Amino acid sequence: MGKWKICCAVTAVLFIIVVVVLVTLCFTLFKPKDPKITPQSVTLESIHLVVFPVVKGNVSLGLEVTVDNPNYGGFKYRNSTAYIFYRGNLVAEAPIENDSISARAKHNISTKVIIFAEKLGTDGNFVIDILSGILNFTSSTILHGKVNVFNILKLKASSSSSCNISVLVQNQTAYSVCKIKTRL
Ligand SMILES: *[C@@H]1O[C@H](CO)[C@@H](O)[C@H](O)[C@H]1NC(C)=O
Ligand SMILES: *[C@@H]1O[C@H](CO)[C@@H](O)[C@H](O)[C@H]1NC(C)=O
Ligand SMILES: *[C@@H]1O[C@H](CO)[C@@H](O)[C@H](O)[C@H]1NC(C)=O
Ligand SMILES: *[C@@H]1O[C@H](CO)[C@@H](O)[C@H](O)[C@H]1NC(C)=O
Ligand SMILES: *[C@@H]1O[C@H](CO)[C@@H](O)[C@H](O)[C@H]1NC(C)=O
Ligand SMILES: *[C@@H]1O[C@H](CO)[C@@H](O)[C@H](O)[C@H]1NC(C)=O
Ligand SMILES: *[C@@H]1O[C@H](CO)[C@@H](O)[C@H](O)[C@H]1NC(C)=O
Repeated sequence: MGKWKICCAVTAVLFIIVVVVLVTLCFTLFKPKDPKITPQSVTLESIHLVVFPVVKGNVSLGLEVTVDNPNYGGFKYRNSTAYIFYRGNLVAEAPIENDSISARAKHNISTKVIIFAEKLGTDGNFVIDILSGILNFTSSTILHGKVNVFNILKLKASSSSSCNISVLVQNQTAYSVCKIKTRL
């Protein structure tokens, strides 16, 4: 074998190793993943409710979530909405403005939802719940966006979480139990 052939063979082997390493990295470490939303807190900001003679007023909740972007690239999410349900019916929503989270960073999003009592009053159980002193809500937050790793690996990603929220009317506090949903 001539010097050139050895040189060529070594170069080819190195090239193959580099390609294999890059491809492996693309499918492992750099592979785009869904960001994770972790609800931090649900706070009762204010509660003004009158049930007699008519149901009126409002309940204002502060929602805070942390979005953890595990990717080696930025996550850009579109304008989104946080939804609040009462006994299965959508009663309030709050906007979450589009933003981006840089690679391997965490980002807090807080938003405020105002639930108008008129929406709750239409449910026959509302008065019963008020008398029992507990209003239960569920919340749902989904972020849709894109992950872009080095402009090569791109993925549509989404992240979502939901919470069971109990508002205790007497002492005006809110308790929440949340879970993170994986891919939809
Ligand atoms: C909520 O109700 C209180 C008391 O009725 C009122 O002062 C306040 O303006 C209401 N908030 C909104 C956003 O309508
Ligand atoms: C998101 O919502 C904000 C405020 O409503 C608006 O100014 C902006 O243009 C929206 N962005 C997109 C990408 O729709
Ligand atoms: C939100 O979307 C608007 C419209 O597409 C864009 O101009 C703005 O830069 C985006 N904001 C962030 C923080 O990405
Ligand atoms: C997000 O909020 C959590 C809990 O409130 C706090 O521990 C963390 O430092 C905040 N992170 C950022 C990036 O602001
Ligand atoms: C509200 O939620 C609490 C805690 O999850 C539960 O103990 C209670 O029974 C619920 N109340 C109603 C009326 O669903
Ligand atoms: C609010 O009241 C409930 C029961 O009515 C109790 O379990 C809870 O500890 C109270 N919370 C605070 C902050 O006082
Ligand atoms: C919320 O409550 C419902 C019904 O009680 C239960 O099935 C669900 O798992 C709860 N969700 C969370 C996040 O705890």
